[in-house]
Amino acid sequence: MAKQIILCVDDEHTILDSLKLELIKLLGDSYIIETAEDALEALEVIENLLSRGYEIPLIISDHIMPEMKGDEFLRRVHQISPKTLKIMLTGQASIDAVGNAIKYARLYRYIPKPWDVTDFDLTIKEALHSYEQERKIEYFYADLEQKIVERTQELQEKNEILLKLDQEKNEFLGIVAHDLKNPLSAIKSLSGEIERSINKIPQLQLLKFIRIIQIASRQMFNLINNLFDVNAIESGKINITCQRLNLLPIIHALLEIYSDRAREKQIHLHFSSEFSEGYVLGDENIVQQILDNLLSNALKYSPYHKNIYVRVYAYQNCIRCEIQDQGPGLSAEDQQKLFGKFSRLTPRPTGQEHSTGLGLFIVKKLVERLNAKVWCESQLNQGTTFTLEFIKFS
Ligand SMILES: Nc1ncnc2c1ncn2[C@@H]1O[C@H](COP(=O)(O)OP(=O)(O)OP(=O)(O)O)[C@@H](O)[C@H]1O
Ligand SMILES: [Mg+2]
Repeated sequence: MAKQIILCVDDEHTILDSLKLELIKLLGDSYIIETAEDALEALEVIENLLSRGYEIPLIISDHIMPEMKGDEFLRRVHQISPKTLKIMLTGQASIDAVGNAIKYARLYRYIPKPWDVTDFDLTIKEALHSYEQERKIEYFYADLEQKIVERTQELQEKNEILLKLDQEKNEFLGIVAHDLKNPLSAIKSLSGEIERSINKIPQLQLLKFIRIIQIASRQMFNLINNLFDVNAIESGKINITCQRLNLLPIIHALLEIYSDRAREKQIHLHFSSEFSEGYVLGDENIVQQILDNLLSNALKYSPYHKNIYVRVYAYQNCIRCEIQDQGPGLSAEDQQKLFGKFSRLTPRPTGQEHSTGLGLFIVKKLVERLNAKVWCESQLNQGTTFTLEFIKFS
């Protein structure tokens, strides 16, 4: 920070000299002492110093000067530099002049000439101390105000996020309630029917009712599991331990699990791999969950008698797994929403499977946690290919 200035104004050279000497003796070189021989010159000096960014804590001025008297001079100083403390130092100032200076220039002190050195020194020290205190308070308040503005803005932003979250939660609850209502009412009405006519219902009919109840319970269970996953992902509570992992046994196990379902829909599952062991960096359960959703989607949205191709191959320092189906494909508009929450899009399940619209949202989040990638390439009526890209572990 630049040194601060003390300005002495007097039309008598000797006074200016002794003021300067006294101030240097008192303050050392902690302040720059400037002098001016009349008020007009002093005003010029002040304007010049202020425009160069200097601070002027104190002005000591004579009263009787040619061109402009001390009270008028200090009044003008007050207009351009209100924080500067002003001391009037004169032998002949009238009460009126001092009164004017107090009233219009907020005069700090009046010191009669010739001055008493002890009194003078004390007054100057006090003035500079008081200026410093005021400046500190001013900085403190400016800082406080800035902090209040920042905190208010932070609070506003947080409030907006909370409002958005609240809205999202309400939508979320609406969808969940709606999705639970259908299977629950099926269970309620069928179990009521069974209770009412337990002795009259033929066995086959009873079996049909029980299967519907089982499907409805599975649907609800599915939804609740997905909701748990979404909640765990969003609250950062999902535990992921990345380690060396062979991708191929996981894919084989899933193909085995889905083989019955594929047979029912007369869909052929094809598998090919460039290698017999494909090591990636991943977490077994998570990788399995990701592949499960992509494979289940391919089966769920493919019409009967189609093919699904699962290919594993190396690409640069990664291993890719591609799941290609010959299903309805996705429009560009649908592709935009594909990884969103509750995105049940134009393609609908072809074999009465259940759909919550959460699978790909979960896939995307999990893939991100593994530092892997997932994307979809598709054209309407030309099938869909999902590609997963994992970091190779060699
Ligand atoms: N292979 C695909 N072919 C065509 N459409 C698909 C395919 N995969 C996903 N979709 C579309 O994207 C939507 C979102 O899929 P996502 O896996 O997120 O949810 P879901 O399959 O409906 O339900 P779940 O939560 O049980 O997985 C689906 O409803 C479907 O419309
Ligand atoms: Mg799905």
